[in-house]
Amino acid sequence: MNITKVVIPVAGWGTRSLPATKNMPKEMLPIYNKPVVQYIVEEAQASGLHDVVFITNQKKTIIEDHFDHNLSLEGVLRRSGKTELLESVRRVAQMVNIISVRQKEQLGLGHALLCAREVCTDDYFAVMVADDLMFGPQPGIKQLMEAALSEHMAVVGVMEAPASKVNRYGIISAEEYGPGLFRVRDLVEKPSPDEAPSRLAMVGRYILTPEIFDHLARLSPGKDGEIQLTDGLRQLARSSKLLAVKLKGQRFDTGDWVEYLTANIHFALQDEELKKELIERLKELL
Ligand code: G1P
Repeated sequence: MNITKVVIPVAGWGTRSLPATKNMPKEMLPIYNKPVVQYIVEEAQASGLHDVVFITNQKKTIIEDHFDHNLSLEGVLRRSGKTELLESVRRVAQMVNIISVRQKEQLGLGHALLCAREVCTDDYFAVMVADDLMFGPQPGIKQLMEAALSEHMAVVGVMEAPASKVNRYGIISAEEYGPGLFRVRDLVEKPSPDEAPSRLAMVGRYILTPEIFDHLARLSPGKDGEIQLTDGLRQLARSSKLLAVKLKGQRFDTGDWVEYLTANIHFALQDEELKKELIERLKELL
């Protein structure tokens, strides 16, 4: 069995990144020379997820456009012989199939996912939160796909969070099931450090089955008055149908300025042409 579809909710307001995101989607903020969402789609593509379902809104069509051809630009680059640049922009248009679904009101992550109900009818599909960039020896979502297919269960990706930051995440209560693998017993959305059942925080990577839609459809607003995906996952956990994988790799929360800026430096430093001068400039600043 193959998992080929990934839902990427992109309709949120991006309030953490204001005023940069007043008119510009937070997913289009650049990390070095690519927008945040391109890194997410590259992770999906590298994991064999070729059908991308954006849950979007009327102000964010620029995201779909980024993954389509820009024929005027391609013409200009072709005529001026800028072959490498031409190839780099054409490659983005050819990466994946795009399906876009409107979320007409922003009522939370669970609500966003519910908007994908009609298009996610396969046995398993992936969900990736576009704020969470993840890098490591193996793409984050691929690590979950392997666990879902071998254990035949829905899976969430977790990482250890410092106690002072558990209130930013959905936190799981779980018991060990195998190396780096947990059976989830319960979940709580953004608990205070005192209430948190563990420090294992969900980091925006999920493999789910269409069963989640029945649970989401029955939910009332939860934390912050939103329809929370975490509350839908609770129903799966209660019937022992949910695993967690401790993800290997590095994560950047692009909605947090320190992490956003660190990610920019991290990726710029991978570019050998920039590296030397950038290090010099950083030294000067410090
Ligand atoms: C969402 C989820 C939360 C999860 C987080 C990961 O929260 O509700 O459970 O831990 O994504 O980034 P948000 O960051 O959208 O408030």
